[in-house]
Amino acid sequence: MNETKIMLSEKEIPKQWYNIMADMPNLPKPPLHPGTKQPIGPADLSAIFPMSLIEQEVSTQRWIDIPEEVLDIYTLWRPAPLYRARRLEAALKTPARIYYKYEGVSPAGSHKPNTSIPQAYYNKKAGIKRIATETGAGQWGSSMALAGSLFGLDVTVYMVRVSYDQKPYRRIAMETWGATVHASPSTVTNSGRKMLEVSPDCAGSLGMAISEAVEDAATHDDTNYALGSVLNHVMLHQTVIGLETKKQLEMVGEYPDIVIGCCGGGSNFAGISFPFVCDKIHGKQVRAIAVEPISCPTLTKGEFRYDFGDTAGLTPLIMMYTLGHDFMPPGIHAGGLRYHGDSALVSQLCHDGLIEAKSYGQTSVFEAALTFSKSEGIIPAPESSHAIRAAIDEALLCKEEGKEKCILFNLSGHGYLDLTAYADYMSGKLVDYEYPEEKIKESLAKLPTL
Ligand SMILES: Cc1ncc(COP(=O)(O)O)c(C=O)c1O
Repeated sequence: MNETKIMLSEKEIPKQWYNIMADMPNLPKPPLHPGTKQPIGPADLSAIFPMSLIEQEVSTQRWIDIPEEVLDIYTLWRPAPLYRARRLEAALKTPARIYYKYEGVSPAGSHKPNTSIPQAYYNKKAGIKRIATETGAGQWGSSMALAGSLFGLDVTVYMVRVSYDQKPYRRIAMETWGATVHASPSTVTNSGRKMLEVSPDCAGSLGMAISEAVEDAATHDDTNYALGSVLNHVMLHQTVIGLETKKQLEMVGEYPDIVIGCCGGGSNFAGISFPFVCDKIHGKQVRAIAVEPISCPTLTKGEFRYDFGDTAGLTPLIMMYTLGHDFMPPGIHAGGLRYHGDSALVSQLCHDGLIEAKSYGQTSVFEAALTFSKSEGIIPAPESSHAIRAAIDEALLCKEEGKEKCILFNLSGHGYLDLTAYADYMSGKLVDYEYPEEKIKESLAKLPTL
């Protein structure tokens, strides 16, 4: 029988995460203290992170054990299925073989619980009572809220204003799991109040919401901060995706020619691709493509340099591709991809030519999402649909060139709470917005000089 779903048993969930820092030809430059501009040490981070996560942040050990308690919760949705997209292949009439890993099976509907669960676990073990965090589309906030409820931690979420208004159901999900949610910029923090003074109708951004959450954590002893992407330990936790996928592809005798993930802060892309990029570093032929919106083109149009992770300049300076920390991306529907920066690991790999980046406008992304929904059934998250667009384009190229490539992409989440975006697309309300080069230059001109 031709399999559609390639499944692993619970026993086959990876017991270790893969750390690409053990294999990278060039490690990212160290993060710098926002005040002194000197490399930071573990003590600088200990005000807002538990030591076990700080250790993972700087570790160059190739394999890191996944704690039993985390594995136990992972079994709620892991191993995630790998699908052969036979119906999509038929609809495209492509000779390519398309596979997608479906992370929408988690309780929160995306890949984000792969890291919210370990983050909650390590914070709980360190005696922390409350987590402050930010969320864009609400996927990360709901994943942290879920993790908080499973470990008995209070969770406060600063949700980007535009998503708070566009996506009320994610807020309700967070509240159902017991979290407190503020629209950001909020009146709860100094940085939020300052932003509202300058711009009372501000739509918010991930950078602003991060400033609020970091300030909240730094000013409360019992509270730590958690980030849903960008940091090295988040990339690490997400590698369960690619490690499972590798085993699943082996089961059907496959190895991908191309691995694709959408890219906001880089975590689901890192998750699906790093175990394969490891092979590439060691000589294997495989392409990894990170896909972003043309309205927030960090890897494709940003500069590789030190910048703050947040708008207010409270976080360490990270060496990454950036559009400038006060870059204000337009309110596109893929809220999780509206981030000015990117993971230091993904950025370094991109700089070194080990991964590629591509960008698309949202109308072509939704067109791809509809093609996918009509053939495979699942309605994908707008973020994940960027990966679908790129996978379809690669498959169409295979048709043109008569090549039978194996294409793998990560379907990082479902879109059942994003139906307003689909309604807007189908009624012709969505427009493409390409961020003007001058605006990017303006924003980059304000970057700190070192
Ligand atoms: C479904 C989904 N995919 C992708 C992303 C982008 O984040 P990252 O690049 O860290 O995977 C998000 C962020 O919220 C998301 O919700």
